[in-house]
Amino acid sequence: VYATLGLMLVSYLICGIPFGKILAKAMSHKDLQHEGSGNIGTTNALRVAGPKVAALTLACDLLKGTICMRAAMTVLWGIAWAPEVSVQLMVAFVALACLYGHIFSPYLHFHGGKGIATGVGILFGFFWPLALIHLAIFIVLVAITRYVSVGSIVTAALVPLTVSILVPYLSPAVIAVWALLGWTVVWAHRANIARLRAGTESKLSFGSKKEG
Ligand code: G3P
Repeated sequence: VYATLGLMLVSYLICGIPFGKILAKAMSHKDLQHEGSGNIGTTNALRVAGPKVAALTLACDLLKGTICMRAAMTVLWGIAWAPEVSVQLMVAFVALACLYGHIFSPYLHFHGGKGIATGVGILFGFFWPLALIHLAIFIVLVAITRYVSVGSIVTAALVPLTVSILVPYLSPAVIAVWALLGWTVVWAHRANIARLRAGTESKLSFGSKKEG
């Protein structure tokens, strides 16, 4: 339990690093929290600061999730005393800590991103086929609708389903933690959902743009 709590804290602190905000400030002198959608993620980095910053933001946000998950899983599976079911639960809690670090960043007064890149990074670290399936669904939906948020919301909502289908022998408690993870990402998109319903969500575009 102490190992899990320690890993959760470290993951929370590492995944809380707002790379999008830092990179946009350093490379383009833009504040992602005050321009475009106000989000610190890849989509808004692309909108406000251009493809270079967006690509780096994507890479950093993805990698922080993957690295934290791989490191935590290596430690947790190395602790042989715990039965498999407990380890799966601990792994799920670390995943949640990674995601919450990004969405409720301790460095941004507990505000942050919407958890898509970091979430996919977490899935890559946890079980890569899961990440690939989510990525495929995301790409298809964005290609069809041109709304990044639609791809994000649908793929995030599907997490409990895909986890329970693709990862064998998970207990309902573990699936519930993964569901909380996916649905927190949906919740983080509540402003996007309101904009989609109002028909004011901006479609995927390049360059500077103001949004309501
Ligand atoms: O992953 C973020 C994306 O789904 C929406 O971003 O900037 O349009 O709110 P944004």
